[in-house]
Amino acid sequence: MAGRYDVIVLGAGAAGMMCAIRAGQRGRSVAVLDHAVAPGEKIRISGGGRCNFTNIHAGPKNFLSANPHFAKSALGRFTPKDFLAMVEGHGIAWHEKTLGQLFCDNSAKDIIRMLTDEMRSAGVDLRLRTEIGAIEPVAGGGYRVATSEGALEATSLVIATGGKSIPKMGATGFAYRVAEQFGLPLIETRPGLVPLTLDPQLLQRLAPLAGIAAPAEIRHGKTAFREALLFTHRGLSGPAILQISSYWREGDEITVAIEPDIDIFITLKTARQANGRQSAQTALAEILPKRLAQHFAEGEGMSGNMADQPDRRLQQLAAAVQAWPVKPSGSEGYRTAEVTLGGVDTACLDSRTMQVKTIPGLFFIGECVDVTGWLGGYNFQWAWASGHVAGEAA
Ligand code: FDA
Repeated sequence: MAGRYDVIVLGAGAAGMMCAIRAGQRGRSVAVLDHAVAPGEKIRISGGGRCNFTNIHAGPKNFLSANPHFAKSALGRFTPKDFLAMVEGHGIAWHEKTLGQLFCDNSAKDIIRMLTDEMRSAGVDLRLRTEIGAIEPVAGGGYRVATSEGALEATSLVIATGGKSIPKMGATGFAYRVAEQFGLPLIETRPGLVPLTLDPQLLQRLAPLAGIAAPAEIRHGKTAFREALLFTHRGLSGPAILQISSYWREGDEITVAIEPDIDIFITLKTARQANGRQSAQTALAEILPKRLAQHFAEGEGMSGNMADQPDRRLQQLAAAVQAWPVKPSGSEGYRTAEVTLGGVDTACLDSRTMQVKTIPGLFFIGECVDVTGWLGGYNFQWAWASGHVAGEAA
């Protein structure tokens, strides 16, 4: 005889735990199954150990999806303020960093403790170290899940096993296989919020810059992000690059503008007027880190005094720094990607409940769904919101 629950949630990550809490609070008997030894491992390592748990400005515009309207319903019904109320209710100290990003003052473990405490209060049965096997619909409704601890049955089955990012942390792509089993459409998956790599030739030229960070605007078509850019031994990283990586496709070019708030041409002209005997590299080093100034000045063949440089040459140098076309060769892939783009096609899900439109009792939530947020607390907000609305319905 299989163990029976009203709701089985597969995956004790951000979305799965939130769903279990809400379903348990509604009086449903709930089991959460996970193969990991601890719940919320990605929460634990997130935000440099302080978990950027939401973004107060989170709205549909901050998400990528084949259907940009899909996330509206869940995001509107469980907002950043709702999550913050939970955080404050547990006495967790927090602060806003930049751009509406909220972090724990102490540790991401505070968020995991909050969620496990809430699950306990809601009577949720958390089963860790549990391998999940075959899933079968049961005649007359519901689902049977084979596990390493025996078979379990439930009326509602919620898939919350995340995406493919960071396989070392237990990411398996399991949700996509379940979707395929039930004949559901998938949007092609690819790594998002990931550093971009460069071809060996360019990398060799940029090698001396590894470790340098600078404010930048990175553009891909009509999309642009202004945050920090970091040169690495493999290519380009930093928040601005991670953000644009979710929009970038193999073969595309991005445009880099370093110090986008400064008019570099005007600044160089002023420097030439003030001291014509200095070099362009020295003048540029007043704005950029020294090695970066050297890279661009040498790259443009700027030698001699500023007094000898006509406007045209200063304009060329400014363009090199602020309209720099870069063609990344690839990305660092799922090994370091913070999220997986694509996933279960939202066309087959009810946006108010996350239930599969054509299959009663089957739900998909969190990262495995084709809704992916920007960097900055948006992905957790999607996990909380989609988990909450599924927990209301499962
Ligand atoms: P999540 O991946 O959290 O959970 C899935 C669960 O399912 C895991 O517990 C896993 O063990 C389990 N599982 C998977 N396959 C299974 C199987 N076959 N059998 C059993 N169990 C299985 N976002 C944000 O908003 N702010 C931030 O600060 C960060 N920081 C950050 C840092 C790093 C390094 C990464 C990799 C990611 C982030 N993110 C983030 C993104 C965020 O972590 C991510 O969007 C959410 O964790 C997604 O939540 P889910 O619950 O959907 O999946």
